[in-house]
Amino acid sequence: MKKQNIIHLESVDSTNNYIANCIKEGALPDNTVILADYQTKGKGQRNTNWNSKIGENLLFSMYKIWTNFEISDIKFLNQSVSYAIIGLLKLYNIESEIKWPNDIYVGDKKIAGVLIENQFRGNFITTSIIGIGLNVNEINDAEINDRTSLIDLLGKKTEIIEIAEKLISQLKILFENILNRNFTEIENNYLTSLYKYKIEAKYCDSEGEFFGIIEGTDTFGKLIIKKSADQKLHYYDIKEVKFL
Ligand code: BTN
Repeated sequence: MKKQNIIHLESVDSTNNYIANCIKEGALPDNTVILADYQTKGKGQRNTNWNSKIGENLLFSMYKIWTNFEISDIKFLNQSVSYAIIGLLKLYNIESEIKWPNDIYVGDKKIAGVLIENQFRGNFITTSIIGIGLNVNEINDAEINDRTSLIDLLGKKTEIIEIAEKLISQLKILFENILNRNFTEIENNYLTSLYKYKIEAKYCDSEGEFFGIIEGTDTFGKLIIKKSADQKLHYYDIKEVKFL
Protein backbone atom coordinates (compact mmCIF):
# COMPACT_ATOMS: atom_id res chain seq x y z
CA MET A 1 0.00 0.00 0.00
CA LYS A 2 1.20 3.55 -0.81
CA LYS A 3 2.67 5.38 2.16
CA GLN A 4 0.44 8.15 3.49
CA ASN A 5 1.90 11.62 3.04
CA ILE A 6 1.44 13.47 6.39
CA ILE A 7 3.12 16.81 7.05
CA HIS A 8 3.15 17.82 10.70
CA LEU A 9 3.58 21.53 11.48
CA GLU A 10 4.07 23.13 14.87
CA SER A 11 2.30 26.34 13.93
CA VAL A 12 0.64 27.66 10.78
CA ASP A 13 -1.96 30.31 9.94
CA SER A 14 -4.45 27.66 8.80
CA THR A 15 -3.85 24.09 7.59
CA ASN A 16 -6.34 24.77 4.77
CA ASN A 17 -4.39 27.88 3.71
CA TYR A 18 -1.13 25.93 3.86
CA ILE A 19 -2.47 23.48 1.27
CA ALA A 20 -3.87 26.34 -0.86
CA ASN A 21 -0.40 27.96 -0.89
CA CYS A 22 1.32 24.67 -1.75
CA ILE A 23 -1.00 24.21 -4.74
CA LYS A 24 -0.22 27.73 -5.94
CA GLU A 25 3.48 26.93 -5.85
CA GLY A 26 3.23 23.54 -7.59
CA ALA A 27 1.64 20.13 -7.54
CA LEU A 28 0.79 18.38 -4.30
CA PRO A 29 0.20 14.59 -4.16
CA ASP A 30 -3.36 13.34 -3.84
CA ASN A 31 -4.36 12.57 -0.21
CA THR A 32 -1.63 14.77 1.32
CA VAL A 33 -2.53 15.56 4.93
CA ILE A 34 -1.42 18.58 6.93
CA LEU A 35 -1.59 18.43 10.72
CA ALA A 36 -0.81 21.37 12.97
CA ASP A 37 -0.36 21.76 16.70
CA TYR A 38 -1.56 25.33 16.47
CA GLN A 39 -3.24 27.68 14.00
CA THR A 40 -2.82 31.44 14.26
CA LYS A 41 -5.78 32.08 11.94
CA GLY A 42 -7.85 28.90 12.01
CA LYS A 43 -10.87 29.31 9.79
CA GLY A 44 -14.41 28.18 10.57
CA GLN A 45 -17.52 28.19 8.43
CA ARG A 46 -19.33 31.43 7.59
CA ASN A 47 -16.13 33.51 8.07
CA THR A 48 -15.76 32.56 11.72
CA ASN A 49 -12.52 31.73 13.54
CA TRP A 50 -11.60 28.26 14.71
CA ASN A 51 -9.62 28.56 17.93
CA SER A 52 -7.82 25.70 19.56
CA LYS A 53 -5.26 25.44 22.40
CA ILE A 54 -1.69 24.43 21.43
CA GLY A 55 -1.31 20.70 20.82
CA GLU A 56 -4.64 19.71 22.35
CA ASN A 57 -6.90 19.11 19.36
CA LEU A 58 -6.87 17.71 15.85
CA LEU A 59 -6.25 20.40 13.24
CA PHE A 60 -6.33 18.50 9.98
CA SER A 61 -6.52 19.24 6.27
CA MET A 62 -6.49 16.74 3.45
CA TYR A 63 -5.88 17.48 -0.20
CA LYS A 64 -7.94 15.49 -2.65
CA ILE A 65 -7.60 15.37 -6.42
CA TRP A 66 -10.75 14.32 -8.27
CA THR A 67 -11.43 12.94 -11.71
CA ASN A 68 -14.92 13.32 -13.17
CA PHE A 69 -16.53 14.71 -10.03
CA GLU A 70 -19.35 16.94 -11.20
CA ILE A 71 -20.29 20.11 -9.34
CA SER A 72 -23.91 18.90 -9.26
CA ASP A 73 -22.75 16.07 -6.95
CA ILE A 74 -20.91 18.35 -4.53
CA LYS A 75 -23.23 17.71 -1.59
CA PHE A 76 -22.06 14.10 -1.47
CA LEU A 77 -18.58 15.26 -0.55
CA ASN A 78 -19.94 17.22 2.40
CA GLN A 79 -22.05 14.27 3.43
CA SER A 80 -19.17 11.80 3.13
CA VAL A 81 -16.79 13.88 5.21
CA SER A 82 -19.38 14.33 7.97
CA TYR A 83 -20.13 10.63 7.95
CA ALA A 84 -16.40 9.78 8.09
CA ILE A 85 -16.19 11.70 11.39
CA ILE A 86 -19.26 9.88 12.73
CA GLY A 87 -17.49 6.59 11.84
CA LEU A 88 -14.26 7.75 13.43
CA LEU A 89 -16.00 8.62 16.72
CA LYS A 90 -17.78 5.25 16.72
CA LEU A 91 -14.32 3.64 16.88
CA TYR A 92 -14.02 5.36 20.27
CA ASN A 93 -17.55 4.27 21.25
CA ILE A 94 -18.84 7.81 20.88
CA GLU A 95 -22.27 8.22 19.26
CA SER A 96 -22.46 11.52 17.43
CA GLU A 97 -24.82 13.28 15.05
CA ILE A 98 -24.50 15.63 12.10
CA LYS A 99 -26.10 19.01 12.59
CA TRP A 100 -26.84 20.20 9.06
CA PRO A 101 -24.86 20.83 7.03
CA ASN A 102 -21.73 19.35 8.64
CA ASP A 103 -21.25 20.17 12.30
CA ILE A 104 -20.64 17.13 14.44
CA TYR A 105 -22.45 17.06 17.76
CA VAL A 106 -22.58 14.78 20.77
CA GLY A 107 -25.87 15.57 22.47
CA ASP A 108 -26.15 19.35 22.36
CA LYS A 109 -22.40 19.98 22.26
CA LYS A 110 -20.20 20.41 19.20
CA ILE A 111 -17.18 18.12 18.95
CA ALA A 112 -16.01 18.75 15.38
CA GLY A 113 -16.38 21.13 12.47
CA VAL A 114 -15.68 20.84 8.75
CA LEU A 115 -14.54 23.45 6.26
CA ILE A 116 -14.21 22.20 2.68
CA GLU A 117 -12.72 24.51 0.06
CA ASN A 118 -13.09 23.31 -3.51
CA GLN A 119 -11.41 24.24 -6.77
CA PHE A 120 -13.39 24.01 -10.01
CA ARG A 121 -12.93 23.76 -13.75
CA GLY A 122 -16.03 24.02 -15.92
CA ASN A 123 -18.69 21.77 -14.41
CA PHE A 124 -16.20 19.74 -12.42
CA ILE A 125 -14.64 19.86 -8.97
CA THR A 126 -10.96 19.33 -9.67
CA THR A 127 -9.52 19.37 -6.16
CA SER A 128 -10.73 19.83 -2.57
CA ILE A 129 -9.09 20.98 0.62
CA ILE A 130 -10.92 19.18 3.39
CA GLY A 131 -10.38 20.89 6.73
CA ILE A 132 -11.46 19.19 9.94
CA GLY A 133 -11.17 20.44 13.50
CA LEU A 134 -11.89 17.82 16.15
CA ASN A 135 -11.74 18.51 19.87
CA VAL A 136 -9.55 15.85 21.44
CA ASN A 137 -7.65 16.65 24.66
CA GLU A 138 -9.06 20.06 25.54
CA ILE A 139 -11.13 19.86 28.70
CA ASN A 140 -14.41 21.81 28.63
CA ASP A 141 -16.63 22.81 31.48
CA ALA A 142 -20.00 21.22 30.67
CA GLU A 143 -21.77 24.06 32.50
CA ILE A 144 -20.34 26.87 30.41
CA ASN A 145 -19.01 25.42 27.15
CA ASP A 146 -21.17 24.56 24.16
CA ARG A 147 -18.43 22.25 22.91
CA THR A 148 -17.13 18.89 23.99
CA SER A 149 -14.09 16.73 23.28
CA LEU A 150 -12.89 13.14 23.42
CA ILE A 151 -11.31 13.73 26.83
CA ASP A 152 -14.58 15.14 28.18
CA LEU A 153 -16.41 12.04 26.99
CA LEU A 154 -13.82 9.31 27.61
CA GLY A 155 -12.08 10.71 30.67
CA LYS A 156 -8.61 10.06 29.22
CA LYS A 157 -6.20 11.49 26.67
CA THR A 158 -6.02 10.17 23.11
CA GLU A 159 -3.00 10.43 20.80
CA ILE A 160 -3.81 12.98 18.09
CA ILE A 161 -1.72 11.20 15.46
CA GLU A 162 -3.63 7.97 16.11
CA ILE A 163 -6.91 9.81 15.51
CA ALA A 164 -5.54 11.40 12.34
CA GLU A 165 -4.55 8.00 10.93
CA LYS A 166 -7.97 6.54 11.70
CA LEU A 167 -9.66 9.57 10.15
CA ILE A 168 -7.62 9.19 6.96
CA SER A 169 -8.75 5.56 6.69
CA GLN A 170 -12.40 6.54 7.17
CA LEU A 171 -12.12 9.31 4.58
CA LYS A 172 -10.47 7.03 2.03
CA ILE A 173 -13.32 4.51 2.32
CA LEU A 174 -15.85 7.26 1.72
CA PHE A 175 -13.90 8.74 -1.20
CA GLU A 176 -14.13 5.31 -2.83
CA ASN A 177 -17.90 5.58 -2.45
CA ILE A 178 -17.83 8.92 -4.25
CA LEU A 179 -15.63 7.59 -7.06
CA ASN A 180 -17.99 4.62 -7.43
CA ARG A 181 -20.95 7.01 -7.45
CA ASN A 182 -22.66 5.22 -4.54
CA PHE A 183 -24.66 8.37 -3.94
CA THR A 184 -27.79 6.72 -2.57
CA GLU A 185 -25.72 4.96 0.09
CA ILE A 186 -23.89 8.20 0.95
CA GLU A 187 -27.16 10.10 1.30
CA ASN A 188 -28.78 7.36 3.39
CA ASN A 189 -25.79 7.17 5.73
CA TYR A 190 -25.86 10.93 6.15
CA LEU A 191 -29.59 11.01 6.87
CA THR A 192 -29.40 8.24 9.47
CA SER A 193 -26.94 10.41 11.40
CA LEU A 194 -28.66 13.74 10.79
CA TYR A 195 -29.65 15.62 13.96
CA LYS A 196 -33.45 16.05 14.28
CA TYR A 197 -34.12 14.15 11.04
CA LYS A 198 -37.87 13.36 10.87
CA ILE A 199 -38.36 14.76 14.37
CA GLU A 200 -40.52 17.82 14.96
CA ALA A 201 -38.43 20.69 16.33
CA LYS A 202 -38.33 24.46 16.59
CA TYR A 203 -36.52 26.61 14.01
CA CYS A 204 -36.32 30.23 12.98
CA ASP A 205 -36.27 31.68 9.45
CA SER A 206 -36.83 35.15 7.96
CA GLU A 207 -40.52 34.86 8.84
CA GLY A 208 -39.89 34.03 12.52
CA GLU A 209 -39.98 31.00 14.77
CA PHE A 210 -41.78 27.86 13.66
CA PHE A 211 -42.11 24.14 14.25
CA GLY A 212 -41.19 21.76 11.49
CA ILE A 213 -39.69 18.45 10.50
CA ILE A 214 -36.43 17.96 8.57
CA GLU A 215 -37.28 15.88 5.51
CA GLY A 216 -33.79 15.73 3.98
CA THR A 217 -31.65 17.80 1.65
CA ASP A 218 -32.22 18.76 -2.00
CA THR A 219 -29.80 18.25 -4.89
CA PHE A 220 -27.85 21.37 -3.88
CA GLY A 221 -27.60 20.24 -0.26
CA LYS A 222 -30.20 22.76 0.92
CA LEU A 223 -32.08 21.71 4.05
CA ILE A 224 -35.72 20.73 3.45
CA ILE A 225 -38.05 21.40 6.36
CA LYS A 226 -41.79 20.69 6.36
CA LYS A 227 -43.41 23.45 8.38
CA SER A 228 -45.97 22.07 10.81
CA ALA A 229 -48.30 25.04 10.26
CA ASP A 230 -48.73 24.79 6.46
CA GLN A 231 -47.40 21.25 5.86
CA LYS A 232 -45.38 22.69 2.94
CA LEU A 233 -41.74 22.01 2.16
CA HIS A 234 -39.33 24.93 2.62
CA TYR A 235 -35.76 24.95 1.29
CA TYR A 236 -32.96 26.63 3.23
CA ASP A 237 -29.43 27.69 2.45
CA ILE A 238 -26.86 27.82 5.24
CA LYS A 239 -27.66 31.27 6.65
CA GLU A 240 -31.41 31.10 6.12
CA VAL A 241 -32.48 28.92 9.04
CA LYS A 242 -31.51 28.55 12.68
CA PHE A 243 -32.01 25.58 14.97
CA LEU A 244 -33.62 26.74 18.23
C1 BTN B 1 -16.64 25.09 11.55
O1 BTN B 1 -16.83 26.31 11.61
O2 BTN B 1 -17.33 24.31 12.19
C2 BTN B 1 -15.53 24.55 10.68
C3 BTN B 1 -14.23 24.47 11.41
C4 BTN B 1 -13.10 23.88 10.60
C5 BTN B 1 -11.77 24.00 11.35
C6 BTN B 1 -10.66 23.25 10.68
S1 BTN B 1 -9.23 23.14 11.68
C7 BTN B 1 -8.30 22.55 10.36
C8 BTN B 1 -8.74 23.32 9.13
N1 BTN B 1 -7.98 24.56 9.02
C9 BTN B 1 -8.75 25.64 9.17
O3 BTN B 1 -8.34 26.82 9.14
N2 BTN B 1 -10.00 25.28 9.39
C10 BTN B 1 -10.16 23.84 9.37
